[in-house]
Amino acid sequence: MTENKSIHGEWSSRFAFILAATGSAVGLGNIWKFPYIAGENGGGAFVFIYLLCILAIGFPIMMAEIMLGRRGRQSPINTMRTLAEEAGADTNWHYLGWLGVIAGFLILSYYSVIAGWAGAYVLKSVTGSFSGGNATEIKGIFDGFVASPLQLMFWHTLFMAVTMYVVSQGVKGGLEKAVRFLMPSLFFILILLVGYAMTSGAYEKGLAFLFTPDFSEVTSDSILTAMGHAFFTLSLGMGAIMVYGSYLPKNISIAKTTLIVAGADTAVALLAGIVIFPIVFANGLEPSAGPGLLFQSLPIAFGNMGGGLIFGTLFFVLLVFAALSSSISLIEPAVAWLVENRNMSREMACLWSGLITWVVGLGTVFSFNIGSEFKIFGKTIFDLLDYLTANLMLPIGGFCIAVFAGWVMRKADSQQELELENPWHYQIWKFLVCYVSPAAVFLVFLNVIGIL
Ligand code: TRP
Repeated sequence: MTENKSIHGEWSSRFAFILAATGSAVGLGNIWKFPYIAGENGGGAFVFIYLLCILAIGFPIMMAEIMLGRRGRQSPINTMRTLAEEAGADTNWHYLGWLGVIAGFLILSYYSVIAGWAGAYVLKSVTGSFSGGNATEIKGIFDGFVASPLQLMFWHTLFMAVTMYVVSQGVKGGLEKAVRFLMPSLFFILILLVGYAMTSGAYEKGLAFLFTPDFSEVTSDSILTAMGHAFFTLSLGMGAIMVYGSYLPKNISIAKTTLIVAGADTAVALLAGIVIFPIVFANGLEPSAGPGLLFQSLPIAFGNMGGGLIFGTLFFVLLVFAALSSSISLIEPAVAWLVENRNMSREMACLWSGLITWVVGLGTVFSFNIGSEFKIFGKTIFDLLDYLTANLMLPIGGFCIAVFAGWVMRKADSQQELELENPWHYQIWKFLVCYVSPAAVFLVFLNVIGIL
């Protein structure tokens, strides 16, 4: 089964895969979520743990996921079944694919709502809503916006419709072309904003917050959040990267590709933090403001800098596109499965999965307004979905992927698929994926339950 191709097609080149995988990894997780959870969890120490998780857990598991996908060449559910058979293991491993499909639905349901906020902020930017605004006014705009279920619903609907349209066209054609210039543009505008942050008057304070670890701030829950975010930001643990890997041609180095994708992803997250925290401190905002942090801080910069109208608009447009290229990978495993096993056309598969996701997303829409008092385990629907997926489902999925790639799959097979020139590199990967990543996930869970 070495030469078979996916029925859904293949990437045109290694570069195309890197673009798509980077498009999946870089998204709201980097620019919206990373800064606000870093702010909620005390900054430096959290960032340090997050970086450690990227290296020790994210990196080897990303290689494993791409490898499994390329070897299986189908949707994660069917890939896991085929590979389990190949290894002579129990085909119940295919439930791992199911866990991923469900996680993808749940994540996309709230991801789309937040992407909708970014869409709304494009309109606010271009119409000059932020011009000259101070911190209080900008916060007022945000609070007023999220208080309106109808507005959130409108943008959520629009974003879901666009996502499903793009997915229905196949993830390769348009996406490849779009990401090619969107990613570099996003990078460029972030660098430009670093320039603004430097002049904000609180640049040092922002950097110190982000990079000076104070381990007295660390709780078991913040370790879990940091680990969960390592999975979330790299799109790991639910089969998204696996399904992208299944479209990857042979003889492309999985290790180098992973290095580039994970590197770019981390760079964007850190840049976002470097931009946001100086603005936060310079304007007396709370770093722990929560999901609104990005939307309450950056518009102050756009409202008060030269060319802010253009840069602000451009920034939110790029953010919407970054979210779009991530959303696509959240739903692709489900769509690929519906096409393979239910004989559906891609269009119908998109229609159904999009509709379900949209309905679930309403829970998040209402979490910020009429349903904000409705809590389960002390969390709003949005918080609950986020916790359930990022902190539990993705690490559990990632744990199983590591165990499968390290322990279940035959050594000869993983060696052949990874094609690492230097045998030492294979040994290191094998050690990480067999011991380090699973043990780390396990220990963090024990720690949260209070056993450790
Ligand atoms: N990584 C994306 C981000 O940081 C979100 C994302 C896309 C994702 N696909 C995923 C998260 C799959 C987990 C699993 O915004």
